[in-house]
Amino acid sequence: MKKLNIASIPGDGVGHEVVPSGEQVLKTIADIHGGLAFEFTSFPWSCNYYLEHGSMMPENGLDQLKPFDAIFLGAVGDLNLVPDHISLWGLLIKIRREFEQSINMRPAKLLKGVTSPLANPKDFDLLVVRENSEGEYSSIGGKIHQGEDEVAIQNAVFSRKATERAMRFAFELAGKRRQHVTSATKSNGIVYSMPFWDDVFKEVSTDYPSIQTDSQHIDALAAFFVTQPERFDVIVASNLFGDILTDVGAAIMGSIGIAPAANINVNGKYPSMFEPVHGSAPDIVGKGLANPIGQIWTAKMMLDHFGEIELGAKLLDVIEETTTAGIMTADIGGKHSTEEVTNEIIHRLKSL
Ligand code: NAI
Ligand code: MG
Repeated sequence: MKKLNIASIPGDGVGHEVVPSGEQVLKTIADIHGGLAFEFTSFPWSCNYYLEHGSMMPENGLDQLKPFDAIFLGAVGDLNLVPDHISLWGLLIKIRREFEQSINMRPAKLLKGVTSPLANPKDFDLLVVRENSEGEYSSIGGKIHQGEDEVAIQNAVFSRKATERAMRFAFELAGKRRQHVTSATKSNGIVYSMPFWDDVFKEVSTDYPSIQTDSQHIDALAAFFVTQPERFDVIVASNLFGDILTDVGAAIMGSIGIAPAANINVNGKYPSMFEPVHGSAPDIVGKGLANPIGQIWTAKMMLDHFGEIELGAKLLDVIEETTTAGIMTADIGGKHSTEEVTNEIIHRLKSL
């Protein structure tokens, strides 16, 4: 019996509506599999927790999470209770940083039955591998002078170690997919870090002779996500470029409510974290309108992470069967509730 201990953090808002959906689906899958079991331990860390305790998680929160096999997170943030920079940095970003989740992985795929905002979306199925620990998002820099003399300097950090790590991760994934990696660059405008990025990409690619490669400037690449998303397989990008690309990826899928993500700890020292792309969606909270597919697809990424590739593929098939049957929430044009969509997915899994 393979037993997986999962730390579950619903967080705020619709996190409490979609995390239970994801847990139920994973439990159903474990039952079908027979040799697999999930045990969820729920942590109440959230903005409400902050109001009571003055912090988003206890001081030893990370120690509590460390022994788990993975973290399954909903969403963090409730502007009515706590400013975003406190809530997100006190929980979500703290886990990503301290647990060295140096890779952020976000697939974007045209789900059958879901209407993309693209007029002619073709059958795209791409995966962005984003460097998640450095790059443009560094706290190195500073400000000097006031008023019209004011100057702000923000440094981007590109280490060989982190750059290579993200690229190798992308090549390994491409080897299991359609054998193609695109590098997001901007070496025509950014004259130190991006030529360095290109050099490392060339070096790493020589270790993967069977994988096709190309390099695209980020501006053109973002445009191609809209005009020809079907041409991409795996894309490797720096922190900022990947952040922007993945939002475009979520947009062309049809709703942020279906977009999944994984924050991967590559060195195996800490658990990885699986969370949908969307936030706490305060505008629809408590109404049964939250799309559970982002969280459930995130659960599929967790299955892949644990080597349960076949089960993960089955789950994605069932998600698409459900959308094809028109069982969908309002954000993707349906009229069903969170619970109805979840139950339909569970029902279909059980009848596999
Ligand atoms: P959001 O993603 O919560 O909502 C943006 C829009 O998408 C809203 O119209 C919402 O109703 C819709 N939406 C989101 N999830 C949905 C779902 N599952 N089904 C259907 N529709 C869905 O982003 P927003 O409004 O900018 O942020 C709200 C709060 O969430 C803020 O406190 C923000 O900081 C936080 N946030 C947290 C994230 C995280 O935990 N990873 C990511 C993004 C935002
Ligand atoms: Mg973003």
